[in-house]
Amino acid sequence: MEIFVRPMQRTLQVAAGVNLLEALRAHQLPVSYSCMAGRCGTCRCKLVNGHVLESGRDLQRPLAPDDGYVLACQTFLTESCTIELPEPDEAVVHAAKILKATVIAVEEQTHDIKRLRLKIAKPLDYSPGQYAQLQFTPDHIRPYSMAGLAGGDELEFHVRLVPDGRVTGYIAERLQVGDAVRVSGPLGSAYLRRRHTGPMLCVAGGTGLAPILSIVRGVVAAGMDNPIHLYFGVRSERDVYGRAWLADLQRQHPQLQVHVVLASGTLPGCRSGLVTQAIAQDWRDLDGFRAYLCGAPPMVEATAHLVRQMGVEADHIYADAFYASGT
Ligand code: FES
Repeated sequence: MEIFVRPMQRTLQVAAGVNLLEALRAHQLPVSYSCMAGRCGTCRCKLVNGHVLESGRDLQRPLAPDDGYVLACQTFLTESCTIELPEPDEAVVHAAKILKATVIAVEEQTHDIKRLRLKIAKPLDYSPGQYAQLQFTPDHIRPYSMAGLAGGDELEFHVRLVPDGRVTGYIAERLQVGDAVRVSGPLGSAYLRRRHTGPMLCVAGGTGLAPILSIVRGVVAAGMDNPIHLYFGVRSERDVYGRAWLADLQRQHPQLQVHVVLASGTLPGCRSGLVTQAIAQDWRDLDGFRAYLCGAPPMVEATAHLVRQMGVEADHIYADAFYASGT
């Protein structure tokens, strides 16, 4: 049987029952992957026609269900089919790892947001915007997005403490400097597309600022000169944080425009309303944009819907099944 792979128009001869990711890798086709276990979402590709067998689908929460996407690592070929690889020139491969880390700081950012800094025993390779699973104890495990860049011996995460949240309650009350944490990752497909040279819309809700900071830092580090329009939505004045980091990034990347949007109340230099309202006020057409969306699922879904209507192609909206809500 055969698989036809777009957009490179390659026909692969494969045996029935073979794993799709293995077949693509065996033929050296540019496919992103990391965990090879159905968790990270990076190997997502489109089944254009034909049928395949999937396992582990229930582990995922796709942005648009039944949209024909499959996870290559969880897909087994049973008949000839056509597969489309997303953005082959943006494929990233970071082998998933489990690393030992130590808490080096738990810093207060707002009344309910903490910045968690971990020192890692070995480097973790990841792309800006990706996330990792943090295991504080066998019972306290949660995904958080990295705010920094790969390459150093530190990882930075932003944690919003949720009332009665089991894991965040543990972080608030019991986590100490010097504690051990297991980090597994990287995970996620909402990473910075480095080959794109056009305008970027970056929308962060609450601690969704962490992966957006990583993405903007990635732009600066890579010497990209894309215009970036960053909308940071928070509930009220007391939830605003990270403005010094954003100002610093604006100094380094003058093409970065930052809009802090308060859902209620006012604050000098900030806007009021919802991020979707602010975007709709500022833009009539987002044709040619790439959109990176990170925050609570309702905000991400409303924003994805809006930007889609304003002309951003569905394949150019990046938001992970895990939305980095920090809850
Ligand atoms: Fe397939 Fe992670 S490599 S979901």
